[in-house]
Amino acid sequence: MNTTAIIALVAFLFAVATAAPQPYQGRPEDPEPVVSVTTCGGHVDASSASIQFQLGGSIRADMRCVWIVRAPYTVQRFSLISSGLKETDGLYITAISSSGLRNSEKLSTLGQNVTVPSKSVMITLIVGHAPTVGFKMEFYSSGGSSVAPDVTSYTILTTAKGNMTYPRNGGNYGSNEIALFPIAPSVPGQPTLRFTRVDLETGTSCQFDSIRIYNWFDGDYRQVAIFCAYTIPVSVTFQDGAGVVLFSSDSSVTRTGFDFQYE
Ligand SMILES: *[C@@H]1O[C@H](CO)[C@@H](O)[C@H](O)[C@H]1NC(C)=O
Ligand SMILES: *[C@@H]1O[C@H](CO)[C@@H](O)[C@H](O)[C@H]1NC(C)=O
Repeated sequence: MNTTAIIALVAFLFAVATAAPQPYQGRPEDPEPVVSVTTCGGHVDASSASIQFQLGGSIRADMRCVWIVRAPYTVQRFSLISSGLKETDGLYITAISSSGLRNSEKLSTLGQNVTVPSKSVMITLIVGHAPTVGFKMEFYSSGGSSVAPDVTSYTILTTAKGNMTYPRNGGNYGSNEIALFPIAPSVPGQPTLRFTRVDLETGTSCQFDSIRIYNWFDGDYRQVAIFCAYTIPVSVTFQDGAGVVLFSSDSSVTRTGFDFQYE
């Protein structure tokens, strides 16, 4: 390469480097939601979404729906656009982190913003003991694109009974995983969750790898168990029809995981 070509190449590389997006740069919200979800529960892997369920139509008593949002930026804003939900119903926003579920916040009034600093968020619809009318809400992601731990896999369990083996294809689970298993049968019930096999890294307070069980009660997911190593916990009945199994692993030592069933 001659000198002119080298200068041109250096100038070009400099231009590419300075034009490349910088990490942690603030990112504004989308002007309008980019995806629309209309099912009871589901997956929202997007920077914004309109989530509506039975808007203007009826929803059966005791219905539970869980949506999981995995957003690209660090701050998520949720807002209720239209709603026929009653005082005894609720739409709850729950941030997820490597240290577990945070306290849920109820989205109850139109226009109210619930804003959470977490890239992964669960939305839970809890209908009281009477039929109700549907709603529409919106979600917008903004802020930096951090590389903080995030939900790495999830399965929303909606059948009346079922079972789960994790990892699904055998072998060992990975490092830095957060795997989420909301259990919210679409036909209202009180499922009982039982673990039949546990093989996780050992820690005196399960500070390395762990499984947590949360039981929905009185407006929040309450942690009722945390375990690791070979510990099989006592069974848990989700008396209010919803619960969550949350598995997380740290950056070293992986084992073969766990099996559970519920009915
Ligand atoms: C909610 O957030 C939006 C966007 O930032 C803002 O325009 C609106 O005024 C906020 N609403 C309330 C009640 O603060
Ligand atoms: C686990 O679930 C599958 C269907 O998802 C079913 O065929 C199987 O019998 C279940 N196993 C147990 C042990 O319940």
